[in-house]
Amino acid sequence: MRATRAAAVVPAAGRGERVGSPQNKLLLPLAGSPVLAHALRALESCPAIAAIIVAARPEEHGPVAAVARTAGIAKLTGIVPGGETRQESVRRALSAVPAAHPLVAVHDGARPLVTPAEVAACVAAAADTGASVLAVPVTDTLKEVDPEDGRVRRTIRRERLWAAQTPQVFRRDWLLEAHARAAAQGYVATDDCDLVERLGHPVAVVPGSLENVKITGPEDFRRAERILRERAGEGPAVPMVRVGSGYDAHRLVPGRALVLGGVRVPYDRGLAGHSDADVLIHALVDALLGAAAAGDIGRLFPSSDPAHKDADSRIFLRRAAECVRERRMEILSVDATLVAQEPKIAPFVPEMRAVIAAALGVPVERVSVKATTTDGLDDTGAGEGMAAHAVATVAQHAME
Ligand code: CTP
Ligand code: MG
Repeated sequence: MRATRAAAVVPAAGRGERVGSPQNKLLLPLAGSPVLAHALRALESCPAIAAIIVAARPEEHGPVAAVARTAGIAKLTGIVPGGETRQESVRRALSAVPAAHPLVAVHDGARPLVTPAEVAACVAAAADTGASVLAVPVTDTLKEVDPEDGRVRRTIRRERLWAAQTPQVFRRDWLLEAHARAAAQGYVATDDCDLVERLGHPVAVVPGSLENVKITGPEDFRRAERILRERAGEGPAVPMVRVGSGYDAHRLVPGRALVLGGVRVPYDRGLAGHSDADVLIHALVDALLGAAAAGDIGRLFPSSDPAHKDADSRIFLRRAAECVRERRMEILSVDATLVAQEPKIAPFVPEMRAVIAAALGVPVERVSVKATTTDGLDDTGAGEGMAAHAVATVAQHAME
């Protein structure tokens, strides 16, 4: 005997206001195709679904038809105008379901992650009992809160609570009657199960999965995308990591303060330069600008500019961090090595790291500062100057 099949009704006529995009969320891309395309594909590839009718706002009938065409939805038999509420949209699509279909599966266009197996399980349960709902047990402890004062009134025991999803599948005659009665009574619910329950019909619960996310807010796109990547065996999205290097050297001269890593270090000479000649920070700035392919310190802060005379080099560091962020990149780490024969740098390293981290706006663990001598082998070894090498890594996250 052939298993009973259902006609699917897909409410897709909302505005997606909570997502905050001017376009209906169902037409926004999720892992390469519109949210609605994913939902339709699950229904298309479920053998228990015989036909699909979508409710859409009249001005979106064209885009919805195009989505279905591109996704290869051969079971689509109609697109009807939606209503002011989800319930009204379902009612209109339901009235377009031919009487030849004894079962109707209602599935939100906003649930793109449903699996064909879940749809089939709901249809099978409704074929048995007349009505079914896909649902998951509630895991959070629920509180009833007074909207007036924002205080908890009582705790609701969750042992018997389930969160309803879609699909929800019903005998067509029950669902028609449930909608007609609700319309006559002016009763509005957020799901169809509620309407059928009110007629006193039993509804079977089919255990679902937390992965069957309803796209409601912007963060749901990221969650859904993660789940889809996992299902495709792609693992988490890996950001592109970029590396930049920097180098600088300055001569030591009498009569100048020695500033290294934004910290005044007591010494009998200081580094010569147009700004405060903080060789460590200059190398870091070039490393960051290099990682972001944003030029170099000489181009951004020309020494011909009198504004930079004796300037605090932390200004350059802050600006370099801005250049990185303006390019939608994130500073992952910076590491600098100071090359100096004298004085001892180690006691100042913790403060340098803190100053650099503050200027970059990153946690201090992302900043490393080291120092070395060259054992008297070159000009820095001879104490004539200091040099610094630096490396920076930045992440370029995938577009959302
Ligand atoms: N829906 C509908 N007709 C409406 C309102 C909603 O067909 N008048 C559909 C939505 O397109 C969605 C489903 O019902 O597929 C669930 O509704 P919801 O998640 O609330 O979507 P929106 O109403 O679009 O979003 P929002 O409430 O944030 O505006
Ligand atoms: Mg809504």
